[in-house]
Amino acid sequence: MTADTAAPGRLIVTGAGGQLGREILRRAPAACAFGHRELDITDSAAVRAIVENGDVVLNCAAYTAVDQAEADPDAAFAGNETGPAVLAAACAAAGARLIHLSTDYVFPGTHDRPYDTTDPTGPTTAYGRSKLAGEQAVSALAPQAHVVRTAWVYAGAGSDFVATMLRLERERDTIDVVDDQIGSPTYAGDLAAGLLELVGRPDAPRLLHATNAGQASWFELAQAVFAGIGADPARVRPCDSTAFPRPARRPAYSVLSNDSWISAGLGPLRDWREALEDALSRVSD
Ligand SMILES: NC(=O)c1ccc[n+]([C@@H]2O[C@H](COP(=O)([O-])OP(=O)(O)OC[C@H]3O[C@@H](n4cnc5c(N)ncnc54)[C@H](OP(=O)(O)O)[C@@H]3O)[C@@H](O)[C@H]2O)c1
Repeated sequence: MTADTAAPGRLIVTGAGGQLGREILRRAPAACAFGHRELDITDSAAVRAIVENGDVVLNCAAYTAVDQAEADPDAAFAGNETGPAVLAAACAAAGARLIHLSTDYVFPGTHDRPYDTTDPTGPTTAYGRSKLAGEQAVSALAPQAHVVRTAWVYAGAGSDFVATMLRLERERDTIDVVDDQIGSPTYAGDLAAGLLELVGRPDAPRLLHATNAGQASWFELAQAVFAGIGADPARVRPCDSTAFPRPARRPAYSVLSNDSWISAGLGPLRDWREALEDALSRVSD
């Protein structure tokens, strides 16, 4: 029996303690959740023991330390290539379906129009290379799997960009934020809802992009955060990336086209400004 024909099984969430995993579980509390401590996705025997026929496995586990990956690519490839390969092989063997997350960093970031699923990849960082290797392993080992690329994900918690801007707004009079990197800010809650819709759509294309609609620079996103909580957006000042040198060079332009998602009949994720407003109202609840 294939995942397409199996009776609906359990929803398994790996990496359940991360920012996306937590948002999935808020919306699907009955899912079987495995945080990093409960399940290391690189542990083949442990993964095989969990995955059963008919399950849908939503893999939110990943090595996401983009800068550290430059110094420790082995760790990045373990989490982002080996782990997804283990999950894909276990899903294929058990007749389960894998939904795996990937990133805008698989692209070189040199476009001046949104990247489509058909555009050539060309990562420029160790993190991006490890995520691309994971995509390729998943597609090769589990042809029924879905790979969903997303970008600039925040929930307004921990040390994500939006939470950091909220903290800096309290601590500083003015802040400098780069305005020469453009992407699609994506609220983890909206992405989680979209992924749960995809759970019910095994017929959708194997490779998809899913972000909130529209585009912004980090500077514009920071200004929108300030405006959203009633602070003066003029306290955010634009600067260029040379002001914040980092081990992993960020793509200048990595907006993802959601055409594949929308053509599949999946619900479009709303405009990023509307999503941010909603996210901020939840942070201050
Ligand atoms: N955040 C973004 O802006 C962004 C953008 C594009 C794509 N994505 C992709 O979206 C997905 C979800 O990312 P996120 O933002 O939720 O990341 P996150 O908050 O860093 O969560 C990742 C989770 O995976 C866990 N993990 C790491 N290695 C693991 C392993 N070997 N086995 C099991 N769990 C492991 C981490 O646990 P520890 O903390 O214990 O290591 C963490 O709880 C990832 O595939 C990521 O590449 C994210």
